[in-house]
Amino acid sequence: MRDRAGFKVPAHAVTTRNLGAAYPLVAEAGLGHRGVLIGHDLLGGSFVYDPFELYASGVVSNPNMIVFGQIGRGKSSLLKTYLWRQAVFGRRAWVVDPKGEYAALAELWGVRPVALRPGGTIRLNPLDPVAPGRAGLVPDDPARRQCELLASLASACLNRPLLPRERAAADLALVSTRSGGVVPTLPAVVAALLDPAEESASRIRTERARLLEDGRDVALELRRLVDGDLRGMFDGPTTEGLDLSGPLVVLDLSALYASGALGVLMACATAWLQAALTREGGPSSHAFLVVDEAWAILANLGVARWLQASWKLSRAHGVANVAALHRLSDLTSVGAAGSEQVGLAEGLLSDSETLVIYAQPPGEVAKAAELLSLSGTEVELVPQLARGVALWKVGRRSFLVRHVVGATERALVDTDRAMAGR
Ligand SMILES: Nc1ncnc2c1ncn2[C@@H]1O[C@H](COP(=O)(O)OP(=O)(O)OP(=O)(O)O)[C@@H](O)[C@H]1O
Ligand SMILES: [Mg+2]
Repeated sequence: MRDRAGFKVPAHAVTTRNLGAAYPLVAEAGLGHRGVLIGHDLLGGSFVYDPFELYASGVVSNPNMIVFGQIGRGKSSLLKTYLWRQAVFGRRAWVVDPKGEYAALAELWGVRPVALRPGGTIRLNPLDPVAPGRAGLVPDDPARRQCELLASLASACLNRPLLPRERAAADLALVSTRSGGVVPTLPAVVAALLDPAEESASRIRTERARLLEDGRDVALELRRLVDGDLRGMFDGPTTEGLDLSGPLVVLDLSALYASGALGVLMACATAWLQAALTREGGPSSHAFLVVDEAWAILANLGVARWLQASWKLSRAHGVANVAALHRLSDLTSVGAAGSEQVGLAEGLLSDSETLVIYAQPPGEVAKAAELLSLSGTEVELVPQLARGVALWKVGRRSFLVRHVVGATERALVDTDRAMAGR
């Protein structure tokens, strides 16, 4: 190497251990080498990431992740390859797949996706019980979680928050269907709402006829999932013989993608997966619960609230939640500043210490800068990111990462076939 005057000077050699100190603010020390390789850190080196390792070493205080990105930027590709690479460490993955694009991943793993169709042969009961989490981590009451889920589904179907008397009627109906250790189902809850027990009415010092009136609207809306256009998927005990022992479980909801009730259906599917995962995996095994196209759930305040509450409890079960959203404003679009929706977005973000941000329109980034703690440079940078390149915010640190897709992984991630005319 020669200096400007043309004299020969020795090249500067430095170990990777000291590189960060030699070039502060230029060379990041990275997140260590424990985890799966994601790709290249554009400021040098490779980028390795594992939420459980980072949790153990105190870099993050929760394992959850949200991936943002415009259409076709590479969100699903990242998720698919990430899960596939995690399989090396024996980590299991459960996926809610609204577009039906995880079939190739399932095939590679030797499992078949569970395909849900209205009137199909497979039923999942969203009210299946959740196993209690590891004691002491967070307060966790499985029976309460069931009530929260039912209230959220009802409020999502009604498209408004429940009135106190409606909520009480729903709670009492659920309790009455649980008596004798029976696992409640949505049809049983609807039946109990339309024919409340004397005992339920007396518990809130009211008449049976009054309780019936209080719960009538809830029952009529929930009936949609039981007898209406959405029947045959979430309206009975879970189909026996579903094999959940494999390393990957994919719920293919592509038959419902065009449904106006996609958010409610995804919430039912996610609730069932969460409950099954807590029972199957046991609190000590590490697993990923991935909700692709999660904007559909967040568009509805009722189910979004439930999703946020359930993310909080993931640590108790050793589960890392992962959600993919299109726009940063998917988190806030339904509400004005200071509204419950914005509070919910803030809650979801504080429960997700890893944010992966692919390219977004400049206006979107500027609006979300404060919510996501983006620096001025990051706000300018994000709109210019190329396909496959994302800003990773892990805890308080930021990385610019090009996700590398291996030759054998290409078939897993190719969603451009229709566009390319192949
Ligand atoms: N890192 C990458 N390197 C090369 N190609 C990539 C990379 N990431 C994504 N692609 C390609 O880009 C296309 C779109 O990717 P992908 O389906 O992951 O986008 P998406 O963000 O999930 O889109 P959508 O919002 O429509 O779900 C795919 O065909 C994939 O092969
Ligand atoms: Mg996608």
